[in-house]
Amino acid sequence: MRYVSMGRVPPKRHTQFRENGTLLVEEVMGYEGFSGNESILYHLTSPCDVAEVGEFTPIEHQEWVPDAHVHRLTDTAPLPPGGDPVFGRQVLMWNGDVEMGIAKPTEELDAFYRNGEGDEVLFVHEGSGEIETIFGTLPFGTHDYVVIPRGTTYRVRLGAGPHTWLTFTTPGEIETPNRYRNRYGQLLEHAPFSQRDFHPPASLEPHRERGEFELIVRVRGGYQRFTLDYHPLDVVGWDGYVYPYTFNIHDFEPKSGRLHQPPPAHQTFQGPNFVICSFCPRNLDWDPLAVPLPYHHSNLQSEEVIYYVDGQFGSRRGVDVGAITLHPSGLPHGPQPGLVEKALGSTRTEELAVMCDTFRPLRLTTLARDLDDPSYATSWHTPVEAAVT
Ligand SMILES: [Fe+2]
Repeated sequence: MRYVSMGRVPPKRHTQFRENGTLLVEEVMGYEGFSGNESILYHLTSPCDVAEVGEFTPIEHQEWVPDAHVHRLTDTAPLPPGGDPVFGRQVLMWNGDVEMGIAKPTEELDAFYRNGEGDEVLFVHEGSGEIETIFGTLPFGTHDYVVIPRGTTYRVRLGAGPHTWLTFTTPGEIETPNRYRNRYGQLLEHAPFSQRDFHPPASLEPHRERGEFELIVRVRGGYQRFTLDYHPLDVVGWDGYVYPYTFNIHDFEPKSGRLHQPPPAHQTFQGPNFVICSFCPRNLDWDPLAVPLPYHHSNLQSEEVIYYVDGQFGSRRGVDVGAITLHPSGLPHGPQPGLVEKALGSTRTEELAVMCDTFRPLRLTTLARDLDDPSYATSWHTPVEAAVT
């Protein structure tokens, strides 16, 4: 991320900084102890100040352990809208590195929320709005990735709906891939995006209201509630490299080659033991003998999850917008029968999809069971009679 400064900050860090004679509270928010990226924020009130300690509610995933290890198709389209931007997130699969879910919020949450121990990504399939944060107000729209670093207190204001988000949270860091950055951290010329494509909050206005405000912090596998007697978005200014931002998937510059480019060509973010990739509309492979679809592959150490956003995905039949395929490790996968022949000579794809590949196995929730299409497992099968006629 690039350096950003918003609002008022003093010329030197760790020096007296006042507003109307009152000393402001300086907070350093950083990763990896004091060795990672950080921002410095100036609050009207100490961020430690809580008037009352409320309940702690554990997060319990309802696990589904299937009795067969197969490729899976999960259709989220029929899932009814409902809930708010935090508790309306419904987890479909998770492991120790990442949790993936779907949210279709229809109402706002009055309380403020902070993920105390995880970075979050919201991929906005449908909808728009604003996220009010301690770093300022971040507008978001359709097909934005919204990246919210841990420690960010925020509240979502929903704009025009309907709203459908693919949600991720990780105990690790969401970053651009190392190989896209030079040794100073700047994005390289061959990266599929530049610093200009990442949008920090648009405006910062400190809130000075007093009253009763609820804050919900996700920590230690649950939600801890607090009551504050001041508005938590009380930051007068901040600067640094840690802040929420948006990146629109259509600002990803897709790569094609003379022959097929593998998924790392589409990588957008990295986390610990997982990646997030963007499959965007693009011209296809131009060699006259090119096969413009993925070859069959056994990713021996990866689980591949693809969420279909728009367009027709070339290598899948019967997979509609809002569907998720899970191709787990231990099994090969590839285009479904007949699709390779059909794709030969194609010069362009309009597919739009978000992929998350994890190195470690994913566990499934009962929601994944409820949305599971068991016929997907045998959708590569060509009966012998059909094959010979
Ligand atoms: Fe794959």
